[in-house]
Amino acid sequence: MTPGIRPLIAGNWKMNGTLREAAALAEGIRAGLDRSPDADLLICPPFIHLHVAAAAMGWKPVAIGAQDCHPKASGAHTGDVSAAMLADAGVAYVILGHSERRADHGETDALVQQKAAAVIAAGMVPVVCVGETEAQRDAGEAESVVSAQIAGSLPPDFAIAKGVVAYEPVWAIGTGRTPTEADIASMHDRMRAEVAARFPGLGEGTRLLYGGSVKPSNAVAILGLPNVDGALVGGASLKAEDFLAIAAAVPAP
Ligand code: PGA
Repeated sequence: MTPGIRPLIAGNWKMNGTLREAAALAEGIRAGLDRSPDADLLICPPFIHLHVAAAAMGWKPVAIGAQDCHPKASGAHTGDVSAAMLADAGVAYVILGHSERRADHGETDALVQQKAAAVIAAGMVPVVCVGETEAQRDAGEAESVVSAQIAGSLPPDFAIAKGVVAYEPVWAIGTGRTPTEADIASMHDRMRAEVAARFPGLGEGTRLLYGGSVKPSNAVAILGLPNVDGALVGGASLKAEDFLAIAAAVPAP
């Protein structure tokens, strides 16, 4: 954790589930929230499940996020969804530049930066993902890859809009493997220094999440590391009790 920063626990549901399952998952989280967690909570269903998840969540203070958007506000972009449309639908956060989108759709840092600017212009908060592949880590390039992604993917108004950065080593996503605590801490220290240098006076307060095989059994250790201000959770966020257990692992302020 970073003193003074309220943590964020975000669930990335990816391309999973039916309408009924999305509603049941949101309802399970709502029903299990028996006390206020020491963190902001966020669920990011697929576009087509945003509405039912939000409706099932009801008044509980769990924000709704999307997993991508188009950089343009509207127009001839078949199959895409704009930031303005998401804001209109009650979305508060948008995950951008996830490694699966970078890999599956060839998304570049420049495109991620345009999307983040669009999200901010629409009044929402971007959650920009960065992270090295296993080959890059083995080659000793992890830190330089992440630094370049941060430099290229964050628009100028990122910190003032309270943008969030998620460090997600590609080789740790969905694999059950995680970096050592020392490796997570040293990457987050470096990320902190970079956002602080890029956004003087504001970057010190930027939320830096860790993502990649976060689960109830490792959440206490990961969330206790310096400069780890929350988690972006994939697989474990598909079970309400696991997501809530991770939220409950946030250290008290
Ligand atoms: P995982 O996914 O928790 O299933 O590893 C994390 C993510 O891709 O955001």
